[in-house]
Amino acid sequence: MNSTEKYTKASDMQRRDASEVIEEFSDEIGKMQGKCIDIGCGPGNVTKELILPKLGCNATIVGADISEEMLNFARKNYGNEERMSFIHMDIESKDFSKEQTVYYDNALSFYCLHWCQNMRRTVENIYKLLRPGGRGLVMFLSYNNGFDAYMKLQRNPRYQPYMQDVGKYIPPYHSCPNPRATMKKTLEEVGFEVLHCSNREKTFVFESLEILQNHILAVNPFFNRIPDDLKDEYKEEVTKEITKNKILFESNNGESSSYSVLDRYGLLIAYFRKPNNAH
Ligand SMILES: C[S@@+](CC[C@H](N)C(=O)[O-])C[C@H]1O[C@@H](n2cnc3c(N)ncnc32)[C@H](O)[C@@H]1O
Repeated sequence: MNSTEKYTKASDMQRRDASEVIEEFSDEIGKMQGKCIDIGCGPGNVTKELILPKLGCNATIVGADISEEMLNFARKNYGNEERMSFIHMDIESKDFSKEQTVYYDNALSFYCLHWCQNMRRTVENIYKLLRPGGRGLVMFLSYNNGFDAYMKLQRNPRYQPYMQDVGKYIPPYHSCPNPRATMKKTLEEVGFEVLHCSNREKTFVFESLEILQNHILAVNPFFNRIPDDLKDEYKEEVTKEITKNKILFESNNGESSSYSVLDRYGLLIAYFRKPNNAH
């Protein structure tokens, strides 16, 4: 199974959160017409199944992602959908090329921007993508204690060679004292009018340790680099380290015990507009 398939099978938390935000902003999304972009569309299932049905009926959507593997999966599965297409894009790119700054009427992004270390440049690029009056709705992780586990494992000499760039994978707001204020300021400094900005504490229950482990591995950027003879050990260690900081519930049927795991994390949600008189 490739990592895109793993992600689609182990992303119930991301899908639940996208679905809730899409529902909350359904009036705003319903008014989105024209050419829209879903930044960090991944396998395209959220774009197709959750976003597209809520957009205005004349809207089209371009799924954009940095990963060719994700894009191949999305094109294979949703390439026939008339109102959808897919392009390669790095939303954090230093040299956002002219052809990429085709104006979009609206930009959406779910569970992607925490991968971007330079949030200022990322927001500037979203500004460049949008036409004057265009709107953006983004949601991304502001905090998850799983990232502390990455930093701890990186100090273990057995895994260090494969995790040297760990800092690249820790979301910029993970240790930020006020992610909401910081994001709002960044959006405003870039020139957006902020219509909503909130940082929310969320919870999600993984019904078993195996489901949690699949979720962890589906988004772990280091696992593919770990040599085969270390993979099983690393899998157990990373799960153990992450689970340590979560809340476990034991259920016992008289013969054996099983555990479900409560995860607490932070989500940043922002809805904003590029002023009509912007250029
Ligand atoms: C966790 S997936 C989210 C997929 C989908 N939006 C969802 O809600 O399930 C994050 C996606 O962001 C993409 N991504 C990460 N950094 C990116 C960047 N700089 N530019 C564009 N896409 C990026 C990854 O390749 C991945 O497909």
